[in-house]
Amino acid sequence: MSNSTGMLRFILILPDTPSNGDFLLKDLPGSGKRIDILCRSLAVCFDWAPTSWPKSQLEFVAVLSNEIVITFNDPSEALPVGEVEWAKVIKSTLRGEPQTFTSVREIELDDLVSQILESDNSLVWVLDEEGIPMSSDTNLDLSAQNSFMLGNHRGFNSYAQEVIQRFGIPRVSLGTRSYLGSHCVAAMIALFERLIKQ
Ligand SMILES: C[S@@+](CC[C@H](N)C(=O)[O-])C[C@H]1O[C@@H](n2cnc3c(N)ncnc32)[C@H](O)[C@@H]1O
Repeated sequence: MSNSTGMLRFILILPDTPSNGDFLLKDLPGSGKRIDILCRSLAVCFDWAPTSWPKSQLEFVAVLSNEIVITFNDPSEALPVGEVEWAKVIKSTLRGEPQTFTSVREIELDDLVSQILESDNSLVWVLDEEGIPMSSDTNLDLSAQNSFMLGNHRGFNSYAQEVIQRFGIPRVSLGTRSYLGSHCVAAMIALFERLIKQ
């Protein structure tokens, strides 16, 4: 299946989250300024959600404090289990000790979006309650790289909104109810799995 499917990528924007790994494992939401959202989303993306979508075709990107981007790929046998194990991976990656499945670089959100849009057969979407309804009959190109941007517990800050507007990124919705970001990751993987079977 991996030959016929493009990369399914999530881009989580965490403007307040420290980019130096300086947070307490015992207080992820407080000291990590909601880094727990990232830990939970990673567990969903690489552990709980995929049943048939190839994990090699999943990528998770976190933009921290609009200056540091961590990219996560399939951890395979090294899969961290639970939020705290993911938090340890994030901490060591930010402190200069990446895992085989993580990488870190200094880049701002607008440059990141621009790079992704410039790569071959690449589509970027914004997950937004108020967007166009997305359902299994949505005309998605599964062979393309599809990247979905997600906000944190407060949604998107004004800078992210400005970037979204400047690049004209389409907004798509899973319904008018506001879900946890991690739920949206699971729902998108499930939707792609349903579409690939059709
Ligand atoms: C907890 S929600 C953000 C909270 C809410 N937007 C607010 O401002 O209070 C986290 C993110 O999940 C995504 N999201 C949540 N519900 C969604 C829905 N029904 N459709 C599409 N995306 C959604 C959006 O990207 C949102 O920024």
